[in-house]
Amino acid sequence: MLTSQPTTSTPVWPDGASLREWEARARAVLDRGAWDFLAGGAGEEWTLDANLSAFRTLGLVPRVLRDVSAPDPRCELLGSHSSLPIAVAPMAYQRLFHPGGEVAVAAAAARAGVPYVVSMLSSSSFSDIAATGATTWLQLYWLRDRSRMQELLDQGEAVGVRGLVLTVDVPAIGVRLRDLANGFALASHVFAVNSDFGDRGRQPSTRESVIATSSASFLDASVTWRDIEWIRSRTRLPIVLKGIMDPTDAATAADLGVDALVISNHGGRQLDRAAPPLLVLPEIVDGVAGRCEILLDSGVRSGTDVLVALASGATAVLVGRPLLWGLSVAGQEGCSRVLDILKTELTSGMRIAGCPDLAAVAELRTVSFRPEVRA
Ligand SMILES: Cc1cc2nc3c(=O)[nH]c(=O)nc-3n(C[C@H](O)[C@H](O)[C@H](O)COP(=O)(O)O)c2cc1C
Repeated sequence: MLTSQPTTSTPVWPDGASLREWEARARAVLDRGAWDFLAGGAGEEWTLDANLSAFRTLGLVPRVLRDVSAPDPRCELLGSHSSLPIAVAPMAYQRLFHPGGEVAVAAAAARAGVPYVVSMLSSSSFSDIAATGATTWLQLYWLRDRSRMQELLDQGEAVGVRGLVLTVDVPAIGVRLRDLANGFALASHVFAVNSDFGDRGRQPSTRESVIATSSASFLDASVTWRDIEWIRSRTRLPIVLKGIMDPTDAATAADLGVDALVISNHGGRQLDRAAPPLLVLPEIVDGVAGRCEILLDSGVRSGTDVLVALASGATAVLVGRPLLWGLSVAGQEGCSRVLDILKTELTSGMRIAGCPDLAAVAELRTVSFRPEVRA
């Protein structure tokens, strides 16, 4: 006989089955300035949209009859174990979205067993982030003052980061029209706490973004490949270059012994009209020929997007904005829920596509459709 069970517990956060729902909820809880900083891109946001459309131009070709009773999504990233082929992308100023900030996101990454990339512009201290037990990689922009880069690197090494991510696609910040129109300012308690970047308590004038103004004071646009050799000589950490898009640049990085690349257009926040990373990935994978790990970010919004990226040759992906949606709505629990959704979608996709492990995912074939023509 069937009996109905009484409900014994109420969920502590609104239950969302898909990342799209978390996006809508985040939009509803954030003020205009914070939402636009999170969601916006450069220029007319062509690249921001194209990153999402690109995943819709490739279809997977499933395999069958290959014992998928226990799909295994684990892998090694930069020499550390990861439960999923996913790392949390570096994102500045996470306390803008929730008081828990970086510590909440890193704690969720630790719980999910995936690496957390610590932004140089973190609004929580490197040591508090490391105390969550997450595997951390430190992200740096190129500062005009190299001794400050060295100081940040020393701070990161002191708290046990396992990798150094150098962002190479920001010689200057992209033109983010939403932030400029909003006169975007950080709340007074939110600033980069690990070094002085001139962002603390700064009130921008109308049509000025605090991020654009403060970053102009420290970013170095004169960086060349020789600086990669300099940083190589300063640390034994594995080195990742984030923001590579061109196959020649990827091959040069591999020649220099870089450990990993992130194929990325910075989530559409830098060069509007930059191509979607997914579409340049296969040529880069061919040229690099296994000499370093190849990560991808910009527009990953589901576990099946992760499958498509891996089937196109990526070792793993970074996920950015979806973690901030979870953070904004429900702090650490929200981030955990976002990572759970990605894991569930990924493992269920692996099962139905006939992939017992990630080696099988890498062998999946993809077919391309004609991209949708945008009005
Ligand atoms: C709010 C926000 C802040 C970011 N801050 C940084 C940063 O400090 N350093 C960096 O290398 N990338 C930064 N990024 C870019 C992300 O690391 C990543 O490349 C991008 O968000 C990936 O695209 P997705 O958001 O579509 O997943 C930021 C992105 C966002 C949305």
